[in-house]
Amino acid sequence: MPIPRILFCNAKGGCGKTTLATSLASYYAGIGQRVRLFDYDSQGSSLHWRQRRSDDLPQIDVVDAARRPGTHMTRSWQMRVPPETDKVIIDTPAGIDRTELAGMLQENDWLIIPVLPSPIDIQAAAYFIRDLLLTGKARKKQVRIAVVANRVRKNTLTYHALERFLFTLKLPFVTSLRDTQLYNHAMQNGQGILDRKTAQNRIDHEQWAPLTRWLDNADISVRAAVTPLFEEKIS
Ligand SMILES: Nc1ncnc2c1ncn2[C@@H]1O[C@H](COP(=O)(O)OP(=O)(O)OP(=O)(O)O)[C@@H](O)[C@H]1O
Ligand SMILES: [Mg+2]
Repeated sequence: MPIPRILFCNAKGGCGKTTLATSLASYYAGIGQRVRLFDYDSQGSSLHWRQRRSDDLPQIDVVDAARRPGTHMTRSWQMRVPPETDKVIIDTPAGIDRTELAGMLQENDWLIIPVLPSPIDIQAAAYFIRDLLLTGKARKKQVRIAVVANRVRKNTLTYHALERFLFTLKLPFVTSLRDTQLYNHAMQNGQGILDRKTAQNRIDHEQWAPLTRWLDNADISVRAAVTPLFEEKIS
């Protein structure tokens, strides 16, 4: 079985790529899996997150993929994945272009696209997904793609606009994650949102469950069962 390689990508900045990538990495580490997280962002947000992580927590290898190695190391050694690795997770920078995206897809089989509920983000996501669907690997359905609504606030017009947009896509819209400061706290402490198991964040575990289930499912043809997050609709 090839090691699953899960890419978090959206050309739009600030949509939650790092927050979701680190949370997922921490979740897998917490269930005993060996995780290697590649940080392609020169801002090094995932690297900094890793530095804040306590030694008591299951360890995660974070690779500074944005930095070219010096003379002491080859690029292929820097980017190696030890055979005992269970999951590879890739955090990407904002502003990735069509060519870079196609290159990223060559190496990775799973793609998660976080999208925020705002008109600008919806528009940007539409362009990004159009470019994505033009790449050879996506056209041949050789990459498993999911969209996640992030920083969702209940019953807002923008969330409903995002939901409508995501339902029109021919891509699995696997879950909606709420807007909560708990994500910031987790980031600050080198943790993931799922490391905290209290009544206060039971809903976050429920919201992540469809995404981890989707990732567990190796069948590319399966469309996640999508249910709107909120029952009530506003007119
Ligand atoms: N569900 C959430 N609830 C509350 N805050 C969130 C949530 N998701 C992300 N954030 C916050 O939003 C900000 C942007 O998130 P993040 O850095 O993960 O985005 P990004 O896509 O990696 O950004 P960049 O494109 O700059 O790399 C951060 O301050 C993060 O803590
Ligand atoms: Mg980031």
